[in-house]
Amino acid sequence: MTDGPKKLRSRAWFDNPDDPGMTALYLERYLNYGLTRDELQSGKPIIGIAQSGSDLSPCNRPLMDHAKRVREGIREAGGICFEFPVHPIQETGKRPTASLDRNLAYLGLVEVLYGYPLDGVVLTIGCDKTTPAMLMAAATVDIPAIALSGGPMLNGWHKGKRAGSGSIIWLAREMLARGEIDYEGFMEMAAASAPSPGWCNTMGTATTMNSLAEALGMSLPGCAAIPAPHRERAQISYETGKRIVEMVREDLKPSDILTREAFENAIAVSSAIGGSTNAPIHIAAIARHAGVELDLQEWERIGKDIPLLVNLQPAGEYLAEDFHRAGGVPAVIGAMMEKGLIREGALTVSGKTMGENCRGKGSEDADVIRGFDNPLQKAAGFRVMRGNLFDNAIMKTSTISPDFRARYLSNPDDPEAFVGRAIVFDGPEDYHHRIDDPSLGIDANCILFMRGAGPIGYPGAAEVVNMRAPDYLLKQGIRELPCIGDGRQSGTSGSPSILNASPEAAANGPLALLKTGDKVRVDLKTGSVDALVSEPDWAMRKAQLEAAGGYAYPDHQTPWQEIQRGCVDQLGNGMVLKPAVKYQRIASKGLPRDNH
Ligand code: FES
Ligand code: MG
Repeated sequence: MTDGPKKLRSRAWFDNPDDPGMTALYLERYLNYGLTRDELQSGKPIIGIAQSGSDLSPCNRPLMDHAKRVREGIREAGGICFEFPVHPIQETGKRPTASLDRNLAYLGLVEVLYGYPLDGVVLTIGCDKTTPAMLMAAATVDIPAIALSGGPMLNGWHKGKRAGSGSIIWLAREMLARGEIDYEGFMEMAAASAPSPGWCNTMGTATTMNSLAEALGMSLPGCAAIPAPHRERAQISYETGKRIVEMVREDLKPSDILTREAFENAIAVSSAIGGSTNAPIHIAAIARHAGVELDLQEWERIGKDIPLLVNLQPAGEYLAEDFHRAGGVPAVIGAMMEKGLIREGALTVSGKTMGENCRGKGSEDADVIRGFDNPLQKAAGFRVMRGNLFDNAIMKTSTISPDFRARYLSNPDDPEAFVGRAIVFDGPEDYHHRIDDPSLGIDANCILFMRGAGPIGYPGAAEVVNMRAPDYLLKQGIRELPCIGDGRQSGTSGSPSILNASPEAAANGPLALLKTGDKVRVDLKTGSVDALVSEPDWAMRKAQLEAAGGYAYPDHQTPWQEIQRGCVDQLGNGMVLKPAVKYQRIASKGLPRDNH
């Protein structure tokens, strides 16, 4: 932040007395729908609204309405508003996977924020990848930016019970496999979980990332949890519009907010809310673009022993409406502050510190947001795993069910370790073709491996690591087998998989050497996963893989698939575009050249 008013960058387009020719060129087309010269030349901040909602992005579609209130807030505070579209990223609609597009939306937004006459921007966030894409771009360009969440859906209900997004699909799949419901019943359950506009009403990746945007200090207090249809959502949209104009006047930029303290707060809050296993990937990406060193190990150091306070599906029982009524993110942070778990001095978009924003805030419903004396889980963070199959992967140990624990983690001599027989699948198609094949002999002592599902292999890293057990095991009551893979897992899934393994098989990581039938040892005490294969055998497989030209994955289908595969980093490093990371705070380094 600086003390005095700073020359607005938009002046270089719209009001450059040294170059009337260029000023006229920049100005005239923006007058053609009714803006006046006075509006564009009287020194008012020009504010972008980066619109991520569209018919293709139903999770973010409410933001198309909320933008009207944002505009009114911007006007009220004396700014001029330009709304523009952001590349759509719909988690449930985009093939082969929405995460392929996170970096594409990032790149597009960087060009827009840098190349147009914008003094500040409202980032409209919601569905899983839209939040990190926008925050990454804001960090790179570093003009004043504030995030506005579109809000979750209302609670879903099915037969008198809360029906949560995604979570109900996993349940319905199992019921269909057991013959308890038919196709119609399946579709009815799925639709019941989506009762209104908004994003997933569970603590999936969307609610996680919007909550973490707030924990990072990038949105106004309370912004994440307000359901999309509630009046408070329109009201905070208006407040957000007013606030961004003030932020431009204060020159309060992402680099003032996205500090090391902010990221430590995000990691801590992620544990307390039961955050998605996608959070470490996206938080790493935002940190890298912000120039903050954040090793994956920090998730274990800061987050592992923080208890789970928020009782939302998939880990708990409630949904987003309940989270909002219980006080949302400020209530969680307020409670954590009393335990000294929050860096209170971290600055936020409100212009105040996190401590000033959240002090005295607490739960309004002790069953939905629990106290530290009554948490859902004692240690809710991630374990970072490593071994001879990969350098790093994460595991949400808090989702290990009593059933799973009894089956795999009850050896009295070695209670936190088990050895299983590997069943290896190369991509989800291979898994679907073979999972129910009796000749594989899958039993309760097997570990399912998914590879070819990472940033390069899939491409884009798909949410395919949590694999259901074969039908014949489900019928015997064996619901889950241990799953390990180089892809991701849906934040709405409660499986205790070991995922995001880096390097992936397609980068010729050692996972590519594993064979069905190998014994693999998983040890939660030491955080290790190792194939029990002899050194000579391992070396021979390595030579064979090299001779075969490396791990094979599907051909590129689009230009972007090829471009991204050529320069994308691994999940443990945030899956960022490697050449992009060196471009930091670019707005402070000057303006782009004139366009004529
Ligand atoms: Fe968009 Fe879950 S699918 S938020
Ligand atoms: Mg998902």
